[in-house]
Amino acid sequence: MKISSVAVFFAFITLLIFTWRLLNWVWLRPKKLERSLRKQGLTGNSYRLLHGDFREISRMNNEANSGPISFSDDTVQRVLPFFYHSIQKYGKNSFTWLGPKPVVNIMEPELIRDVLLKHNAFPKPPPHPLGKLLATGVVALEGEQWTKRRKIINPAFHLEKLKHMVSAFQLSCSDMVNKWEKKLSLDGSCELDIWPYLQILTGDVISRTAFGSSYEEGRRIFQLQKEQAHLVAQVTQLVYVPGWRFFPTKTNRRMRQIRNEVNALLKGIIEKREKAMKVGETANHDLLGLLMESNYREMQENDERKNVGMGIKDVIEECKLFYFAGQETTSVLLLWTMVLLSKHSNWQDRAREEVLRVFGNKKPDGDGLNHLKIVSINPIYIQYSNPS
Ligand code: HEM
Repeated sequence: MKISSVAVFFAFITLLIFTWRLLNWVWLRPKKLERSLRKQGLTGNSYRLLHGDFREISRMNNEANSGPISFSDDTVQRVLPFFYHSIQKYGKNSFTWLGPKPVVNIMEPELIRDVLLKHNAFPKPPPHPLGKLLATGVVALEGEQWTKRRKIINPAFHLEKLKHMVSAFQLSCSDMVNKWEKKLSLDGSCELDIWPYLQILTGDVISRTAFGSSYEEGRRIFQLQKEQAHLVAQVTQLVYVPGWRFFPTKTNRRMRQIRNEVNALLKGIIEKREKAMKVGETANHDLLGLLMESNYREMQENDERKNVGMGIKDVIEECKLFYFAGQETTSVLLLWTMVLLSKHSNWQDRAREEVLRVFGNKKPDGDGLNHLKIVSINPIYIQYSNPS
């Protein structure tokens, strides 16, 4: 056979394999999975080529978000309209097509318990190839790797350690309330959209509590990560074509640029801390300081060569995760707390009475916070301080 015919033959085989894989990805595999899900008694929309339910999800989200929220609205219909309608139509156990990938929705506590406990049968789904640029860290790990990493991270979230951060919380809150006070008109009232303020508040709190002494760099990281989260939210609503992340599109380039800048900023902060730790400077009580101390201890206790602790790349990823995990979650929680307190003014009165009784005109402190019953500590922190 001539060389040119060998080349044509291989090109033909490659094309055949590529076509087969494409067909399998967009049609054969989803249809096979659909048959298998239906056999198990699950119901949902029939698979639609490539997009699955994405178009309907996006249309329903846009419709639901087009008007203002009213107090009488059902929150679920507004926040997750597609899933709400899916449950009405298909019941509590159903499936949804995120592109060619089916996602099983379950609502029965027993089933949810099974999924959370049977780690081997239900491993974490692989992260979105572009989503990884936002943060990975402990949340993406499994099994022994997760246990080891959690052991290092846990001391940073002990309730005792969190008490040192109360003054940082207080500082950011009074900054925000001062700004609000300046907006008041003569009758002592004003109309204000508090959402942007709450986002800045939690961004500030995480910058102070995670990077204390490097607060300014922390704020820059916060802005960049916020933009990255926005881009990730955009790309994850579209079908991901394998290999797409390598294309130099505007979004892909910006996402890499942000990743590189955030990594460089964090590397700088971490290296500065490492130097300070080596010359025996006093420990920092911020999350990064606690994380690095715990990592150092872990490496000392075990043999450094055994690769037990985290390298600089791992520390960078954990810092990025702190931002992602701690900012939007808390600002949304605060906003909804305020919405609900406005809706239920009797609880608002009780909460205000309690705060004034415990603190009066004093600045809030850790001990006082422990005495609050109505405005109580987020149980999530208790969960963090009791690792399994
Ligand atoms: C209202 C506030 C918060 C809510 C509702 C919340 C919710 C959650 C949830 C549901 C997970 C599990 C995610 C999964 O496994 O897929 C998680 C994990 C995590 N969160 Fe939060 N979170 C909040 C605040 C915070 C804060 C303030 C931080 C830190 C600064 C934080 C750090 C983490 C970390 C490190 C993980 C990964 C834990 C692990 O995989 O072992 N979270 N959070």
